Amino acid sequence: MPATTPTQSEILKYLKDKTGDFVSGADLAEKFGISRTGIWKHIQKLKTLGYDILSHSKDGYKLLEVPDLLTPDEIVPSLGTKWLGLSYHHLETVGSTNDHILLLAAQDAPHGTVVIAEEQTKGRGRMRRDWLSSQGRGIYMSILLRNHLPVRIAPQSTYVAGLSLAKVLRLDYGLDASIKWPNDVLISGGKVAGILTEMQSDQDYSRFIVVGIGINVNYSRDEMEGPFRYPATSVSIQAGGAVKRREVLLAFLRRFEEDYEKFLAGGFSSLIPDLEEFSGILGRKITMLIGEREISGVARGFTPEGALSLLRSDGELEAVWAGDVTRVEAGF
Ligand code: BTN
Repeated sequence: MPATTPTQSEILKYLKDKTGDFVSGADLAEKFGISRTGIWKHIQKLKTLGYDILSHSKDGYKLLEVPDLLTPDEIVPSLGTKWLGLSYHHLETVGSTNDHILLLAAQDAPHGTVVIAEEQTKGRGRMRRDWLSSQGRGIYMSILLRNHLPVRIAPQSTYVAGLSLAKVLRLDYGLDASIKWPNDVLISGGKVAGILTEMQSDQDYSRFIVVGIGINVNYSRDEMEGPFRYPATSVSIQAGGAVKRREVLLAFLRRFEEDYEKFLAGGFSSLIPDLEEFSGILGRKITMLIGEREISGVARGFTPEGALSLLRSDGELEAVWAGDVTRVEAGF
């Protein structure tokens, strides 16, 4: 589905400003300096993109409904952010948004650049797993961050993204969302989103960080069946009906900008109260894979430096910096 031309974007903006009212073809033609037939053609194109526009031979055109698109037309004017998403790239299809944003980063794309795809043909997860990325069902997004953080600190951007998403799902959608440290977001125990953070560094400092986020928004139960390592779910399954991806995305980007600024100003320790509130593992017995090593214990909390404090089954307290939680025991 090709993007709109600048004229189509302007016509759309004009129709949105007048939502609920007819705008005559003659007015549009005069305003945009093109013929009425030209306007009609642009309106036809907008209709093929899913905009519900009523055409009336005498009264003109009336915008009735806007489709659930993640195009710049639908996202950028509504963002209200200071830096996040101001450089916004929307692709119909791509191998992986993380790979695409790495190319943009090499061409000096600015801090806060966002790449979104309607589908990914080579969506990547952690541990070389694939990420289910069917057309229009989810949000597949990468964010470029150009803060020069110490290499040890940079991966904590993952926690900020998980936290922001868990907040959106719990506070805005009323869902039982939690963070499965370090990079998953769950709803009622099912994985609804995963985060893949990648970084390029110059010695001890990151040159840039890419936070790749995949959110299962409108997948059905059947579509979620498959070789997933952790039981998967979607926002629509949990909400009991289709959810507008556009609204999830906008809410997430706004919260992420706010949380990331808080993290930059106050460090990891400023996130701890929120992380404790939204964590799905604290106080629970968990099993983790750290490389090849499997350990079990009770997740006690986070250290001010950003490690998970695990009271191992042998009674020792271990600070875990990275790992994969493979099991969470309920109600421990
Ligand atoms: C995981 O849980 O293993 C992480 C999944 C990350 C998936 C997202 S989708 C957008 C971005 N592009 C990718 O190829 N992967 C991340």
